[in-house]
Amino acid sequence: MKCTHRANPLNASDGGLYCTLHGSRFDLDGNVVAEPATQPLKKYPVVVNNSLIQISI
Ligand code: FES
Repeated sequence: MKCTHRANPLNASDGGLYCTLHGSRFDLDGNVVAEPATQPLKKYPVVVNNSLIQISI
């Protein structure tokens, strides 16, 4: 969960993720909604099976 601008850790907020360093914002699909970041977040396949969450990295 790092910003694609300068790799600062992101924080969760209502409906998205934000970077405190320069103000980039991302939606919950990882798309940029506020620059300076221009690249979307990296996505990993997730499978939920009962109480098990499997993330393929
Ligand atoms: S490091 Fe996140 S906006 Fe620059």
